[in-house]
Amino acid sequence: MTDFRSPATSPSRTPVTVLGLGPMGRALARALLAAEHPVTVWNRTPGRDADLVAHGAAPAASAAAAVAASPLTLLCVRDHAAGRAVLDAAGPALRGRALVNATSVAPDQARESADRAAGHGARSLNAAILTPTPTIGQPTGVIVCSGDEDLFRTHQETLAALAGAVHHLGADPGRAAGYDAALLDLFWTTAHGYLHALALARAEGISAAAFAPYAHGLPRLLPALIDDWARRVDEGSHPGDHSTVASAAAGLAHVARTARARGLDTAVLDAALAVTERAVAAGRGSDGVSALVEELEARRPTAPGSRRPPGERPR
Ligand SMILES: NC(=O)c1ccc[n+]([C@@H]2O[C@H](COP(=O)([O-])OP(=O)(O)OC[C@H]3O[C@@H](n4cnc5c(N)ncnc54)[C@H](OP(=O)(O)O)[C@@H]3O)[C@@H](O)[C@H]2O)c1
Repeated sequence: MTDFRSPATSPSRTPVTVLGLGPMGRALARALLAAEHPVTVWNRTPGRDADLVAHGAAPAASAAAAVAASPLTLLCVRDHAAGRAVLDAAGPALRGRALVNATSVAPDQARESADRAAGHGARSLNAAILTPTPTIGQPTGVIVCSGDEDLFRTHQETLAALAGAVHHLGADPGRAAGYDAALLDLFWTTAHGYLHALALARAEGISAAAFAPYAHGLPRLLPALIDDWARRVDEGSHPGDHSTVASAAAGLAHVARTARARGLDTAVLDAALAVTERAVAAGRGSDGVSALVEELEARRPTAPGSRRPPGERPR
């Protein structure tokens, strides 16, 4: 966690407002205070700013007053609806200000939020915070931004106080959110996989603690797999040299069978098995497992070789 014992601020540092003092908003404010930025804070529910104020932050009575206090505002609240409510409450105070919306949202919501900020006369960036609160203000923190590139360049040094890696990924305000969604897809399906594996182990009379050391083997295999599959997917080439889709279908089928026999929820396993079996039925059984990406994409109306069923409406 960021050490922010010193309440000193430096006149050379850009004043920053933080709207939203949940765990992440508080971590952002602490990192800015540690980097000697003058910081103004506001939260919908009063009383969550006491320790930040004790360390030098200025409390604001409203979102509008908070935005008016600094040229740059970071917005970090629960979701898109909460962000919209705060932006509308700040209203005219946003005119001529810079906004970084660090609330996790979907790509279309990020674009809508950029339009909303522009409607209030603010320039904006959307930021996706890809790492948890303990990494904020640390070299291990990763934040990606997209939207107004000039704005990013102007505030790059300030944003660097928040994380070791802060990247701008392009002018589309939804692009950072696209990275976020893909990474969260990986995280939550991986997390679910581990939790399901623990349930399966316990159903087989194996304690979670006894199973855990074996689970440690998987992350060690993943870096090579991540790069190899990324290359194959980008090249559209999926040789079945290491493992095949047909073999994956057989493996998934026996895991689903084991889980079902123990009365566990198998919805996610069944879904993964269905995709894999569809790929086998489409003649891809001897391809490598990375070919499943093309099966997942097959129903997209714009995908090459799309197999969208007749009558199904494009999404
Ligand atoms: N925590 C992490 O490690 C992490 C990592 C990456 C990204 N993020 C993202 O950062 C954002 C903030 O997360 P968080 O961890 O700080 O906690 P959170 O529980 O997602 O958000 C709490 C904040 O949202 C505010 N809020 C909720 N509904 C609101 C509304 N309708 N109007 C105004 N404010 C509202 C809360 O205000 P009240 O106090 O008044 O309820 C509080 O300030 C989320 O989008 C999250 O996905 C978090």
